[in-house]
Amino acid sequence: MIRKMTLVGAMLAATTAAAQDSVPIQPIDVNAARAELGKRMFYDTRLSGDTNLACASCHDPEKGFSDGEALSQAYTGAGHFRNSPTLANVGYRAAWMHDGRLGTNLNDVAREMITETYLMNMDMRIMQERMKQDPKYVEMFAAAGMSEPSNGGARNALMDFMKTIVSRGAPVDTGDLSEAATRGQAIFEGKGNCASCHVGPRYTDDQPHNIGVADNPDIWADAERHSAFVTYAKFMGVENYMNLREDLGAYIRNHRPETKRSFLTPTLRELTWTAPYMHNGTIETLAGVVDFYNAGGGDDPLKDESLKPLGLSDGEKADLVAYLEALSGESFDTDAYVWREDDFDYTVIEDWRNVKN
Ligand code: HEC
Ligand code: HEC
Repeated sequence: MIRKMTLVGAMLAATTAAAQDSVPIQPIDVNAARAELGKRMFYDTRLSGDTNLACASCHDPEKGFSDGEALSQAYTGAGHFRNSPTLANVGYRAAWMHDGRLGTNLNDVAREMITETYLMNMDMRIMQERMKQDPKYVEMFAAAGMSEPSNGGARNALMDFMKTIVSRGAPVDTGDLSEAATRGQAIFEGKGNCASCHVGPRYTDDQPHNIGVADNPDIWADAERHSAFVTYAKFMGVENYMNLREDLGAYIRNHRPETKRSFLTPTLRELTWTAPYMHNGTIETLAGVVDFYNAGGGDDPLKDESLKPLGLSDGEKADLVAYLEALSGESFDTDAYVWREDDFDYTVIEDWRNVKN
């Protein structure tokens, strides 16, 4: 039976449950009418300045709510310098963005996505007016208990929709692990030491670590990506941002030298759909990730000391990959997140225009 749980309760469960007794992730209780409104917004390209991008362009349910690119897509004429993360179980995270720079409210992340020049480049006042011009939005805001479309209401609706994106039915939850995956689990929790950072039912401690992921040279080779990076680094108050040629990760928000190039541990849920991997998409496959850890991680003077060469055999590496694959569920394959034509019933708008004429 599905048990309803508050966000706080779920987060407590996430930090106390060990990986070995993995329990399915419990859904978060949200306002259903608000989530339904947020869902419509999530798929609506009118949320971006030039109406080219919806949230779903970069967080595509068919790709585990990521976008399949090493470095994310970006607003027309701009580039991006990070990999688009999955939104699976995003409502449970203690901090967001690869560097953890947003950590209070999930609706702050929605605002950043909408307004950031290299993401959706939208003035929220214009967005609000656009929504007021669409009777379907007016209706949905009212149904969600809000008198009219507003910026704050829109962000809360997006937040509630995102909280409904919860992994379900992965072999690790149903107990349906293959023999290879079962052997892989023992490595994950044992000599692989993976569970020291990838802990609990979401497989993350929500903390930054330096594991020595190599730089992605495409950021510096591409003027549009580089320019977005400079904008970001300058805004975050990093010294010498014009000459910077590395992504400093969590350092950018705390300016503590020992945190340079450390990035938040990502969830390991839904990995099958979210390649390529790491904050900058530099590792293409799960076999590649396992090779990376087998070599003791990457090459960085600040690398976490717990990462050591693992000496896994080819068979053990394959088993570990099988376990990682068993963390993906069926949730995003179902109707729940499929684009629905009738969400955009423009005949409603035509009727409304006819009435006015
Ligand atoms: C043009 C591509 C793009 C669009 C459009 C976009 N995002 Fe994102 N999103 C990203 C990238 C890239 C990141 C990671 C950024 C970083 O780490 O600096 C991200 C991060 C996030 C995160 C944080 C996830 C985590 O685990 O830390 C959330 C939540 C999110 N986006 C939600 C949304 C919502 C809601 C919308 C629509 C309002 C949206 N995004 C539109 C590319 C996009
Ligand atoms: C010291 C903490 C730590 C340990 C130990 C660790 N990881 Fe990670 N893992 C991370 C961090 C941090 C990242 C993200 C790095 C980045 O984005 O540059 C990551 C990324 C990953 C990714 C990519 C996920 C994605 O969506 O991009 C996979 C897969 C992964 N780890 C699996 C493992 C496995 C398997 C092991 C054990 C062999 C392991 N990790 C051990 C911290 C750790």
